[in-house]
Amino acid sequence: MRQPIIAGNWKMYKTAAEAVEFVRDLKPLVAGARHCEIVICPPYTSLEVLAPALAGTGISLGAQNMFWEAEGAYTGEISPGMLSAAGCRYVILGHSERREYFGESDEIINRKIKAALINGLIPIFCVGEKLAQREEGVTTQVVRKQVTGGLAGIAAADAARMVIAYEPVWAIGTGKTSSSQDAEEVISFIRGVVEELYGPGSAADVRLQYGGSVKPGNARELMGMSNIDGALVGGASLDPVSFAQIVNYPA
Ligand code: PGA
Repeated sequence: MRQPIIAGNWKMYKTAAEAVEFVRDLKPLVAGARHCEIVICPPYTSLEVLAPALAGTGISLGAQNMFWEAEGAYTGEISPGMLSAAGCRYVILGHSERREYFGESDEIINRKIKAALINGLIPIFCVGEKLAQREEGVTTQVVRKQVTGGLAGIAAADAARMVIAYEPVWAIGTGKTSSSQDAEEVISFIRGVVEELYGPGSAADVRLQYGGSVKPGNARELMGMSNIDGALVGGASLDPVSFAQIVNYPA
């Protein structure tokens, strides 16, 4: 049985003090939530302060990016080992904003995924088509290439414990959500690609999230789809009340 996973991607929002305040407000709102795993991915500067704030809550900590090298002269970069030492269990890799603004290719993302796994971090590996690609009808080709490229050389057991987030780029931060049927269609296609690559066992275990304008008003319907195991939430994860409403989608 796949445990649903709801992750908040804070992007470049919140100071460390604001992050601690958020967690203080969120804790009582999600205290009863046993049906899903909750992850918060703040900026790097909040990781060290949130690790103790989250201890004992069952809420996991994740980062939004990392470099693949263990250490070295890479000014401005953060290594996988540093993230583990800071208390991270997850790391978002290949987010469309990294692909778009920081030139991350499938090959770079693949290196990062390998480095994360070696260091015991669970990648939340993002894929998704742009609007023009959807309009051209090439969504599945684009997503297949991203999934295959990102997972190149990764063992079946590792693929099985990863999270893959399908985030159509046109739905991120735009208020436009993919219909739950369209999201389910692409996400079940992704499960099929994982099955082609690794067989039915890994395909049954890998958790697949939807991301792109997830809100309290649409979380329940999205989460009701049989292949959607969670959500990667940007804007609506910045407010403890709306994030808790998404986490508590069955209520
Ligand atoms: P959004 O962002 O929920 O604000 O659309 C999702 C994401 O980029 O992960």
